[in-house]
Amino acid sequence: MRLNILKLKKKTFKHCKITKKLNNEILLLKNTFWKHGIKSQFLWQFKNVKPQDVHNCLFVKKKLVGYTLLRKRRMFLNKKKHYFYLVDTVTISKKYRQQNIGSYLMEMNNDFLKKSKRIGFLLCKKNLMNFYAKSGWKKIKKNTFKINVKKQSLNGMTFNFEGRRNKHNKNLIYFLTN
Ligand SMILES: CC(C)(COP(=O)(O)OP(=O)(O)OC[C@H]1O[C@@H](n2cnc3c(N)ncnc32)[C@H](O)[C@@H]1OP(=O)(O)O)[C@@H](O)C(=O)NCCC(=O)NCCS
Repeated sequence: MRLNILKLKKKTFKHCKITKKLNNEILLLKNTFWKHGIKSQFLWQFKNVKPQDVHNCLFVKKKLVGYTLLRKRRMFLNKKKHYFYLVDTVTISKKYRQQNIGSYLMEMNNDFLKKSKRIGFLLCKKNLMNFYAKSGWKKIKKNTFKINVKKQSLNGMTFNFEGRRNKHNKNLIYFLTN
């Protein structure tokens, strides 16, 4: 049975404010898709998530059903340093997929980016580009940006980026993930 979207509760948490209980739920949800084990999820988080990073969560009756990590990181655009959010780990619990809840979660992520006036950037496989495009994300040409991780096979997409690039400045855009 399809879930009524009104039953979803949206909540945003800074990493420094998150409870241990919710964090465990996040690790468990992540592990249903990226099956590296809970210990590995915890270690990845310990290494890669900073206190000011943001967890966007969707709940049904207090149960976590949707999750995104937004990591506040630096980028160089038009030779100047800016902050952007690296949108990561977009996940909907298996039982709730294909009911537009993923799009609802992306809307929540987009609202967060618009409110904080930051650019959003993500990397994804080709088959998922359509999913993100439906939520207003745009592909960024591979020869216009660099990122300090080896993920050449993935596609870069941005949100809230239009008009930010000085067309006369041909310098590459650098996204830093650390
Ligand atoms: C990707 C994911 C978040 C989508 O969530 P969802 O709630 O099932 O998506 P929605 O129901 O909102 O789908 C919206 C649209 O995107 C399409 N879509 C959803 N998942 C897709 C996928 N894996 N591949 C291609 N298209 C997809 C849907 O068909 C739908 O299109 P339609 O409106 O024409 O029917 C979910 O499948 C998931 O958690 N997958 C595992 C984790 C993952 O791959 N995350 C992305 C990491 S980059």
